[in-house]
Amino acid sequence: MIMVTNTIRVKKGHGESVAERFTGSKGVAESPGFVRMEVLFTEGLEDHDELKVCTTWATKAAFEAWVNSDSFRQAHAHRGKKTEGEGEAKESVLLGSEMTTYRVLVTK
Ligand code: HEM
Repeated sequence: MIMVTNTIRVKKGHGESVAERFTGSKGVAESPGFVRMEVLFTEGLEDHDELKVCTTWATKAAFEAWVNSDSFRQAHAHRGKKTEGEGEAKESVLLGSEMTTYRVLVTK
């Protein structure tokens, strides 16, 4: 099993509204080999918010198939867009992101 996380830095105060965008189903859960997904909000940061999107997969191939699928493309079609209700003049609240891949060695 593998876990792949995407750590997203978000402008201070916008973390929870960005997290809500992950509550709707855009297909990852139906993707072959998908095991589980969690969205974590990092506590204790001062100058920005941070979300960690943690996805667990049966195999690395299953994750790679999802990344190359229409499901992934659709889920990310709006990632640069503003949070609902923000004025057109404002830039995206997303500051950056970083992906990390782990092998899962122990689960209980
Ligand atoms: C530039 C990099 C990325 C950014 C900024 C980003 C941001 C986002 C955002 C904002 C959403 C919510 C969708 C929406 O607004 O409609 C989303 C969905 C999602 N992202 Fe990413 N993402 C990135 C890459 C990745 C990567 C590498 C992974 C791998 C773990 C990932 C995992 C997910 C998952 C699992 C969903 C939910 C899909 C679903 O519900 O079917 N993202 N992403």
